[in-house]
Amino acid sequence: MAFNPDRYDDMLYRRCGRSGLMLPAISLGMWHNFGGHENHRNCVDMMKTAFDLGINHFDLANNYGPPPGAAETRVGRILREEFAGYRDELIISTKAGYRMWPGPYGDLGSRKYLLASLDQSLKRLGLDYVDIFYSHRPDPDTPLEETLGALEQAVRQGKALYAGISSYDGARYVQSVSITESRGWAPVTIHQPYYNLLSRGIESDLLQHTALHGTGVIVFCPLAQGMLTNKYLDPDNPIPEQSRAADPDGFLRPEQLTESALEKVRQLNVIAEARGQSMAQMSLSWVLRDERVTSALIGARNSDQIRDCVGALKKLEFTPEELARIDAIAPQAG
Ligand SMILES: NC(=O)c1ccc[n+]([C@@H]2O[C@H](COP(=O)([O-])OP(=O)(O)OC[C@H]3O[C@@H](n4cnc5c(N)ncnc54)[C@H](OP(=O)(O)O)[C@@H]3O)[C@@H](O)[C@H]2O)c1
Repeated sequence: MAFNPDRYDDMLYRRCGRSGLMLPAISLGMWHNFGGHENHRNCVDMMKTAFDLGINHFDLANNYGPPPGAAETRVGRILREEFAGYRDELIISTKAGYRMWPGPYGDLGSRKYLLASLDQSLKRLGLDYVDIFYSHRPDPDTPLEETLGALEQAVRQGKALYAGISSYDGARYVQSVSITESRGWAPVTIHQPYYNLLSRGIESDLLQHTALHGTGVIVFCPLAQGMLTNKYLDPDNPIPEQSRAADPDGFLRPEQLTESALEKVRQLNVIAEARGQSMAQMSLSWVLRDERVTSALIGARNSDQIRDCVGALKKLEFTPEELARIDAIAPQAG
């Protein structure tokens, strides 16, 4: 299978903090739409379209499905069947931290869980190593040294090239850096936090710290699971059939589509239209306006959505007036 030979020309690649790792400004995640019951051809199509557009980073976690593990199994098959010979051009990440199997060793941040889970992920993916292995969420009860020590062990064993953390607040991130630096462990190369126009917490809590310590930031749910698109703006069809909110397995519940959130999106959409962007594109340009953000980690249900999202890169700049209007609609503390 030949991929687009020009795939690296139009994509923007940003350095992940002060590491050697470059990431595409838009990355593709498999939380939704790669589970066991999905149409396999559509999944293949999405990954190939993404790669043809220069998206060479695919993000997974042990529990992505449904059922948990199914997304890794499917992506493993696609890598084997469609991407043979391209492993060295790809950045594949996975994580452990949410409930994966019963009992005390199938959840959170112990060494026992993280390392067993990574071995299982590698089997499902059919890979010798992942590029990034994350602690998926903070564990308040396991010593941070143990969780970070497990990431260090994964890197030393060659089962992961880089270590990452996800959803750690600023204070815990700073503590993590201090532990890895003082012990000479694999650095925290990347942080994966939640960030979008409707949820701006990392601007005050995290980004000043990651910039100072040279850690990259890949933000998840930049479209707020689809809310920051024009998908839910039609009053005659408030929850379209083909939408995450209509999917009983989807994590976006109809009650999250509050009138106050939708009103913000309606107002933001006016600015997007004036910029000549789709609402999804402006949402992505906006998270990427800050160069401390390495990559926007999107999800998609089909290739058209991926193409639309990548179109955001044609217009990343905002005028001060546009930013002020956006701040008035979607303030940092809102
Ligand atoms: N670290 C963590 O704890 C964590 C948590 C959550 C997610 N993640 C990662 O972040 C990735 C992205 O999360 P997400 O899927 O929630 O991200 P998202 O980009 O905020 O939402 C994706 C959804 O937006 C809609 N969409 C995408 N492009 C569109 C377009 N151009 N026009 C209209 N609608 C569009 C689709 O919804 P419809 O299906 O409704 O069409 C799509 O499924 C995940 O796959 C995962 O890798 C990590």
